[in-house]
Amino acid sequence: MTWNTPLTELFGVRYPIMQAGMGQVAGGRLAAAVTNAGGIGCIGASRMSPEQFDEEIALAQSLTDGPFGVDFLFPDIDDSAGPAPDAPYHAVDPKLRNTMLNIAYDRRVALIVYAMKLQPGRADEAHELGIKVMTLVGTARHAVRAQERGADAVIATGTEAGGHTGAVALSALVPAVRRAVDIPVVASGGIATGQGVASALALGAAGVWVGTRFMATREAQVHPAIHKEIMDRTEDQTVISRALSGKTCRLATNNFTAYWSDREIKPFPQQAIEMNKMNYVQRSLVEGDVLDCPLPMGQSTGLIHDILGAEEVVENLVREAEETVRSLIAVLGAPERVAP
Ligand SMILES: Cc1cc2nc3c(=O)[nH]c(=O)nc-3n(C[C@H](O)[C@H](O)[C@H](O)COP(=O)(O)O)c2cc1C
Repeated sequence: MTWNTPLTELFGVRYPIMQAGMGQVAGGRLAAAVTNAGGIGCIGASRMSPEQFDEEIALAQSLTDGPFGVDFLFPDIDDSAGPAPDAPYHAVDPKLRNTMLNIAYDRRVALIVYAMKLQPGRADEAHELGIKVMTLVGTARHAVRAQERGADAVIATGTEAGGHTGAVALSALVPAVRRAVDIPVVASGGIATGQGVASALALGAAGVWVGTRFMATREAQVHPAIHKEIMDRTEDQTVISRALSGKTCRLATNNFTAYWSDREIKPFPQQAIEMNKMNYVQRSLVEGDVLDCPLPMGQSTGLIHDILGAEEVVENLVREAEETVRSLIAVLGAPERVAP
């Protein structure tokens, strides 16, 4: 069965299921697997060198003919300040940002996701090349700005989400964003089951953007200890902290979050630059230090108890969502009045 929402129409895909572009976690293999399953994969570019980034896009393009995106963590800071010292990743280096963007343009990816803010002019630039643009938003106000700047859709990110996130719960955010903009709204945060997908659609979303559930796949580039953490943790074992970057970010509770809970944290990007020097994200996600290093993870960790292939995750989300809708129709007791 193929679904039909404004998001499936925008990309010509079977299901409105997007895999979040998680930095360090989501490479070309994961993105291609999700796209091949009928959704939309996304490469998390934030910690890649330009060479790695180009290779990961080429890998995805060799594995799928379908649409996939790339996700950038370009911050809202003054580029004229020049590259930040000792910070060789694009969240804090404007020169690197342009190099990365040009690779995405040259490779003609289907979609560019701006994680932090869609800067003026970026959407027009991409549209000229036939590339779609989205951005993550945590309030209706931010969604309006993204629409004004030409975004094709917004990703409404509820506070449940792993990684950088805001304070508003998904159940309040999606309807508020829907009311504020005309472009499709994709729901993100806490979605790891088909029930979550169905409820997001019921709230008015045109699709979902799923992170933690896809981190718990064989294609995700993480240490086995991370997979064990996701399977073992309960829904209350994450916390919002500014310690990783200076911006609010949901992390698994551990020694790192406890240490920083009562210490002074610098504003973004200074805190991000300091943490980057410690190579923390590499040490947690790649080397598996789950005790002393920051580990981005969403509240949906409490719902995840297995490590699957990415294709199976898409299939499960679709099947469970369809079952959920059918069971709701049964509750209403009037299936004949519901259009097929
Ligand atoms: C390990 C990890 C890394 C992430 N890295 C990024 C990133 O580089 N860029 C980005 O836009 N979002 C990033 N996110 C956030 C996701 O895009 C998304 O908002 C979130 O995972 C959705 O919530 P969920 O984890 O509850 O599904 C990351 C999330 C996780 C768990």
